[in-house]
Amino acid sequence: MQIVLIEGDGIGPEVTQAACRVVAATGVKIDWVKGPAGIPAAERYGDPLPDETLEMIRRYRVALKGPCTTPIGKGYKSINVRLRQGLGLFASVRPVNTLPGIRTPYEKVDLIVVRENTEGLYAGMEHEVVPGVVESVRLITRGAAERIVRFAFELARHHGRRMVTFCHKADVMRLSDGLFLEVARTVAEDYPFIQFEEKPIDNVCLELAMDPSGFDVLVMENLFGDLISDLGAGLIGPAGPGGGLGLVPGANFGTQYAVFEAVHGSAPDIAGKGIANPIAVIRSAAMLLEYVGRPEAMAKIERGVAGALQAGEGLTRDLGGTGTTNSITDQIIKHMGA
Ligand code: NAI
Repeated sequence: MQIVLIEGDGIGPEVTQAACRVVAATGVKIDWVKGPAGIPAAERYGDPLPDETLEMIRRYRVALKGPCTTPIGKGYKSINVRLRQGLGLFASVRPVNTLPGIRTPYEKVDLIVVRENTEGLYAGMEHEVVPGVVESVRLITRGAAERIVRFAFELARHHGRRMVTFCHKADVMRLSDGLFLEVARTVAEDYPFIQFEEKPIDNVCLELAMDPSGFDVLVMENLFGDLISDLGAGLIGPAGPGGGLGLVPGANFGTQYAVFEAVHGSAPDIAGKGIANPIAVIRSAAMLLEYVGRPEAMAKIERGVAGALQAGEGLTRDLGGTGTTNSITDQIIKHMGA
C-alpha cells in the first residue's frame, strides 16, 4: 500500500520516523512516498508546499504528516491552511482521552473534538482597510456548516457515542454563528437517537476546566476548534512544557482525501535533539491504519502506547522521564505484543 509521508520540519522528521518504525512493527506493509513540505521544501523549491506534494496526496489519497513551521506575520500563508483548503479537508478530528500512567487532575476524559477546517476566521480573508486598521472576515456558509455538523453526527453514530455538543457564540456573532446554530439544530433532527446540546464556547471552556467528563463529541468552527484542541491536550497531559501536546493525535478528512497529523507544532525549541515525544504522531498513524481498513493494527499500537506509558520506562522529558524519541518508540514496540 502506498501512502504519502510528509516529514515536515522542526521535530517533524524525528517523530514521523518513529511512527514509521511503529507501523512497520504492526506488520502492515506500507510503501511511504515522501512529499516535501515545510522549511526544507521552501529552501529547495521556493515554496513550503510545492504543487507536487498536493498532487501526490491526490494520487495516493492518504498522507501522514509531521508539523510544519509557519513564520508569523509576513511571508508564506500557513501550509496547513493551504493543505486543508486545497484538498477540501473540511473536518479535523482530534480524540482527547485519558491515558494510563499519566497523572492529571482529571481521570476520565474521553472527548472527540470535531473542527470545521476551511472557513471561519482561518479562511485567510484579511485586508488592510487603511494603515493601522485591518479587517479579517469570519466566513460561515450554510453548506460548510451543514457538512461539518453532519460529519460530527455520523462520527458519533459510527463510534457509538451518546452526545454531540455544538459550540458557538451566537449571542454576539448573531449572523455568522446564528446561521451555524440554525443549521446545527436542523441537522440534529436527523439523529434523534443521539443527544444534541448547544453551548456558548466560553461556557464550554469553563466546564471543560471544571469537569471534562460531561462532554462527548464537540463540533465547532475553525478558530474555536483550534483552541479547544489545545485545551484538550492540556486536560490529558502532565504538568510541564508541552502538556499533553505530544500525546493527542489528529486527522483531517475530506470527501476524497485524508491527512493524519498530531495536534502539536514543529517545537523548534527541542528540534534536532532526539527528545521529542512521538506518541501523538504514532497515534495519528494508528488512526490512519484504521482508516485504510486495518483496525487490528490500530488496536495493536494503542495497546503498545498504553503499555509503555503504564510501565513508565524510556519516557520523554515532557512525560517526566529522561528518555528519547527512540527509547519511548522502543518501549511502544515492545508492548505491542505479537
Ligand atoms: P508547538 O506545539 O510546536 O510547541 C509548544 C510547546 O510544546 C513547546 O514547548 C514544545 O517544545 C512542546 N512540544 C510540542 N510538541 C512536543 C512533542 N511532540 N514532544 C515534546 N514537547 C513538545 O507550538 P508552537 O511553538 O506554538 O509552534 C511552533 C511552530 O509550529 C509554529 O511555526 C507553528 O505555526 C507551527 N505549528 C504547526 C502545526 C502543524 O503543522 N500541524 C500545528 C501547530 C503549530
